[in-house]
Amino acid sequence: MSAAAAPEAGRARFARDVREGLSRPQRELSPEYFYDDVGSALFEAICHLPEYGVTRAEERILAASAGEIAARAEGARLLIELGSGSGRKTVRVLEAFGRNGRMVYCPIDVSPSALERCRRDLEHLAVIRPVTASYLDGLRAALAERPPGRPVLVLFLGGTIGNFNPSSAVAFLERVRGLLAPGDLLLLGADLVKPAEVLLPAYDDPAGVTAAFNRNLLARINRELGGNFTLSRFAHEARYDAAHQRVEMHLRSLCRQDVEVPAAGLRFTLEEGETIWTESSYRFDLAGLTSMAAQAGFDPLAHWLDAGWPFALSLWRVGAVPPDHQARA
Ligand code: AVI
Repeated sequence: MSAAAAPEAGRARFARDVREGLSRPQRELSPEYFYDDVGSALFEAICHLPEYGVTRAEERILAASAGEIAARAEGARLLIELGSGSGRKTVRVLEAFGRNGRMVYCPIDVSPSALERCRRDLEHLAVIRPVTASYLDGLRAALAERPPGRPVLVLFLGGTIGNFNPSSAVAFLERVRGLLAPGDLLLLGADLVKPAEVLLPAYDDPAGVTAAFNRNLLARINRELGGNFTLSRFAHEARYDAAHQRVEMHLRSLCRQDVEVPAAGLRFTLEEGETIWTESSYRFDLAGLTSMAAQAGFDPLAHWLDAGWPFALSLWRVGAVPPDHQARA
């Protein structure tokens, strides 16, 4: 179906983002670059960690409620998943929808190996049309599969919406809505607010898997952009910012060190103790989710919750009137 951006264009964008992010006063790297093949494999391992309850909570909700979700999304024959990974979390949804007839499932991901696994593992449940692309390019391509006169169900699972800052989350969801038609549906997974004592070990596990995931971003810069990061000179750090209801991940420089990333045209000195901010992971409450749906032009229909590890799956429908028109009315 669609191809990912040509490797050279992808590398140029990576180099540009690394240059911009590492040149800021608070140095930053975008979490979207965690997910090369190594990073995707480390993330899969994180999902199995006893301290990281997000994935299991969502799986429990899907195990208990996929039938109900399929009933609410009746008529949908095309399922499109943004950031599917290997599609492990989607098995229950496909099983539930499959009872109503043959489905087409378009998993969208930047990792070709994850998509290959997805195709292999799920092809008994649906017609699989993998799309190697970013979310919005992939969604645009996948919508070409829309069966006439039927709603499409888009899945954005795993709590990934929490990796956008609040205004970017709304802007992103608005762009998703802009590609959809009235009556189309979005199933959104969002992790809910919980105590710091629960969240921090989930992002700083004793086995060091999350630390390896975080440091792999520097390893990826070394591999793809010729960087000279020495990984052992960086400590993984997870912090909870209660005011913003977010976990932050940083890489703290353990000494004063010179950094070079030739393909990004970068040379700078990191001071001892200085950090590179690599990820924010926001938590939500139900009122915040409802308001986000309205701001992005969706009508919230229903939500399903996990009480063990507070997490919400919310089903939204594209409203007939875009939000800017509603505001003017
Ligand atoms: C993909 N995303 C929802 C994960 C999260 O929890 O923010 C990524 C992650 N980062 C560290 N652990 C997991």
